[in-house]
Amino acid sequence: MTERITKILKNLEELNQQGGQWNISAETGQFLNKIVLTKKPEVIVEIGASNGYSTIWLAEAAKKVGAKLITYEFVPEKVRDLVSNLQKADLIKYVQIIPDDANKRLGELNERIDFVFLDGRKNEYLQQLKLLEPKLKPDAIIIADNAISHKHVMEDYLYYVNNEKAYQSELKDIGTGLEISIFKKALST
Ligand SMILES: C[S@@+](CC[C@H](N)C(=O)[O-])C[C@H]1O[C@@H](n2cnc3c(N)ncnc32)[C@H](O)[C@@H]1O
Repeated sequence: MTERITKILKNLEELNQQGGQWNISAETGQFLNKIVLTKKPEVIVEIGASNGYSTIWLAEAAKKVGAKLITYEFVPEKVRDLVSNLQKADLIKYVQIIPDDANKRLGELNERIDFVFLDGRKNEYLQQLKLLEPKLKPDAIIIADNAISHKHVMEDYLYYVNNEKAYQSELKDIGTGLEISIFKKALST
């Protein structure tokens, strides 16, 4: 992590204290960064970039492992901040930004995906996972944020990943709660 990126992340943490960004915690960011460095995915999909705090944590690791990061954000003001923050962090060239509703655009993805970070609307996680499912590589990792803070809103999602044989899933008490699911395609076929 360069000094420049650390400084940008710190500034965004201060901004987040003022509200309105709904960024992940620094602990969650560090975890996402570490897991990308360890698992070395080739294609990462993020839903809900906001102003790019989580995107920077993911992109910093994506750059190091040579992964492609595709992120969705549909609020134009957030997209402007996202672009500006990624430019400041010198990470913009590692990220493909889709400035649109992920629910409408996920179907267009041609890539096989091996890492997903879900952080849009919590009641849409299951719909989004099902759109991504045909494109997931075996052993793909799906991380869903707010699995403790919003567990009731994402009840259908949590039930699915914990009961569908194609997934191995566990809850981690990191930040607002991360549901970490591994797609075991072999089990579903
Ligand atoms: C919790 S915030 C994301 C915070 C960000 N991941 C971070 O930690 O820095 C949720 C964001 O998802 C965006 N969003 C929600 N549903 C979306 C969708 N279907 N497509 C694209 N963006 C979406 C919202 O506009 C909002 O900025």
